[in-house]
Amino acid sequence: MLSVTVIGGKASEDLAKKLSKRLKADFISSDLRIFPDGESKITINANPKKGKIIIVNSTYPPVDSNLMQTLSLITKARQFSSDVISVIPYLGYARQDREFLPGEIVTLSVIAKLLKASGASKVIVVDIHSQMGLKHFDIPIKNVSAVQDLVNHFKKLKLKDPLVVSPDLGGATRAEEFAKLYGTDFIALKKQRDRKTGKVEIMTLNLDGVKGRDLVLVDDMISTGGSIVKATEFLRKQKCGKVYVACTHALLIDNAENKIRKAGISGIISTNTIPGNTSVVDVSGIIAKAI
Ligand code: R5P
Repeated sequence: MLSVTVIGGKASEDLAKKLSKRLKADFISSDLRIFPDGESKITINANPKKGKIIIVNSTYPPVDSNLMQTLSLITKARQFSSDVISVIPYLGYARQDREFLPGEIVTLSVIAKLLKASGASKVIVVDIHSQMGLKHFDIPIKNVSAVQDLVNHFKKLKLKDPLVVSPDLGGATRAEEFAKLYGTDFIALKKQRDRKTGKVEIMTLNLDGVKGRDLVLVDDMISTGGSIVKATEFLRKQKCGKVYVACTHALLIDNAENKIRKAGISGIISTNTIPGNTSVVDVSGIIAKAI
């Protein structure tokens, strides 16, 4: 029988272990040393057998270090097998999927080239920021959705007449999918982001139909929390009920979590693509299925 080995990078060790259990695969951990100048020195703790090797490592902050560690692990695995799957549960740089302003570099296309050059034969990501991002890869890439697992979590909470809300039009399809699986309706706000300063504004003026209803704000990721805070402030003015957040990737940079809670959010639910306080939904099942 073909041997399967999961190698866990330091950014996703727990998720990698869970995945190896689901796949009944061997698990190899890795050690990491960061040199004083910031270089990563990564060591795998055993040699994998010939067969399929799955590297699991997210590229959340420090993004470039975690990326370098992912590339190093793929390169190492390639010495043992030509079948190397790179699972990157949270793919950093995914928002840089197009040239928004003249002269910008589409860094996601650089990442795609690096993964291929390191020897990945396939890439698996969870809830990539945009479908357009997938087009930059010329090795097979699979994007798996955590929406059903997030919905399952929300079904256990007893929300009052819940309504699903996307904080921007770009996330409308995700919110629609969430609402369909949740068995309710959805709306999408109009958000504008200043491409130079990053400042966010909600452009939607008034809304009917949110008064008294509990809301679930659905987004692919929370970074600074700016989008969620602005959306919540706006929605609370419309006299809604409680507001919850469901997102796949909770980066929660600096004091984002506090800012969001202060804005009046009753709960933040995210997945373990990025481990943290809010990551209560496990994505190892959907990744195992994709493999
Ligand atoms: C943007 O289109 C994304 O879907 C997120 O809404 C955004 O990246 C979140 O960033 P922040 O938390 O900094 O507003």
